[in-house]
Amino acid sequence: MTAIATLSTGPAGLGDLDAILGLERAGFPASEQWSRTSWQSELAGESLRVLAARDDLLRGVIALRFGPDVCDLDRIVVDPQQRRQGIGRSLLASGLELAATRGVQEMILEVRTDNAAAIALYRAYGFAQLAVRGDYYGPGRDAMIMGRPVGGDDHE
Ligand SMILES: CC(C)(COP(=O)(O)OP(=O)(O)OC[C@H]1O[C@@H](n2cnc3c(N)ncnc32)[C@H](O)[C@@H]1OP(=O)(O)O)[C@@H](O)C(=O)NCCC(=O)NCCS
Repeated sequence: MTAIATLSTGPAGLGDLDAILGLERAGFPASEQWSRTSWQSELAGESLRVLAARDDLLRGVIALRFGPDVCDLDRIVVDPQQRRQGIGRSLLASGLELAATRGVQEMILEVRTDNAAAIALYRAYGFAQLAVRGDYYGPGRDAMIMGRPVGGDDHE
């Protein structure tokens, strides 16, 4: 009988770099991929935290940047073969829990206005639109800035 591996979410480190870069290549078009150096900084930075969801393999990551009052959700990506199974939810819930323990008051993020999957996930977790920045990702590619208070119910 084949054992079914259980998904767990916890800290990621520099040892996860290659697996994260694999997700990055699978999850984003080339023009939007973060470089090895960007991920190295994210994994090593003192004010940054990366959480990974894994079973036998790394299936998704979320990268968070903490200031005294605000936490920026810098990145979230799930293995394209494993989407719509709750991994994004699990990562976001863990990120919000971590933010609550760090005492920040708000989580904010930028997302492309045409990224329906990510916007639906964020809205399901109580994020609301704060502003739209025109051409943020290049000509004709706008960003929506979204935010929500930290603490209280994670899920709306
Ligand atoms: C956004 C992303 C992280 C969601 O991960 P996921 O594991 O598939 O998400 P979940 O299975 O936890 O979905 C949670 C909810 O989000 C919404 N959602 C997720 N994918 C969706 C899609 N393709 N279309 C519509 N809603 C979607 C739904 O409300 C879903 O709940 P449901 O399945 O009960 O309907 C994933 O699509 C991804 O990696 N996208 C590419 C990277 C990216 O664009 N990241 C965001 C910018 S940094």
